[in-house]
Amino acid sequence: MGKISAGRNVFMYPMPVTLLGTLVDGKPDFMTLGWVTRVNANPPTIGCGVGRHHHSVRGIEENRTFSINFPSADLLAETDYCGLVSGKDKDKAPLFEVYYGELETAPMIAECPLSLECRLELTIENPTNNFYIGEIIASFTEEQYLTGDMPDIKKINPLLLTMPDNRYWTVGNFAGDAWSTGKTLKKK
Ligand SMILES: Cc1cc2nc3c(=O)[nH]c(=O)nc-3n(C[C@H](O)[C@H](O)[C@H](O)COP(=O)(O)O)c2cc1C
Repeated sequence: MGKISAGRNVFMYPMPVTLLGTLVDGKPDFMTLGWVTRVNANPPTIGCGVGRHHHSVRGIEENRTFSINFPSADLLAETDYCGLVSGKDKDKAPLFEVYYGELETAPMIAECPLSLECRLELTIENPTNNFYIGEIIASFTEEQYLTGDMPDIKKINPLLLTMPDNRYWTVGNFAGDAWSTGKTLKKK
């Protein structure tokens, strides 16, 4: 078969690039977050892997709330900056127009086409990162990013990430319908 090892430091292909929003000592902080995934269908929960030394950790643990914001590709520089600089050293909030939903302590970014407001449900402590699982309490988008009543990936134009080469990408081509195309292989 000709298989060789790609090592153990292998990542998901690709990862969504998001901005984790927290309120630390009453001030909004935004941290770039690639390790994020849906965890449960109903209630809808989302999980994120956050290094324990990050400033954002304080906000999540203080308020038990956070937001997940999906930047478009045109926010690439701001998004990368939020992953290079800590809220311990710099106030990152002035980069964005900040707004709040019903949780009041999960700051969200008006420039992002899609934002999720989450309430912390469970923390799993890993050797270097905490995995925070939060219930999605509300989502915020705009008419211009929808097709019908659904967020449209082409209109949102999200940023994607590959690691360990550390590169950003945008979405490619539609390849086929899920839960559908495989039916052609089902035995009659
Ligand atoms: C593209 C990118 C993705 C990142 N993804 C994560 C991640 O999933 N988890 C994490 O803990 N840090 C991640 N980081 C690093 C943090 O965003 C970075 O350390 C940030 O400065 C922490 O900010 P804070 O101290 O204000 O919380 C990422 C950085 C970049 C540039």
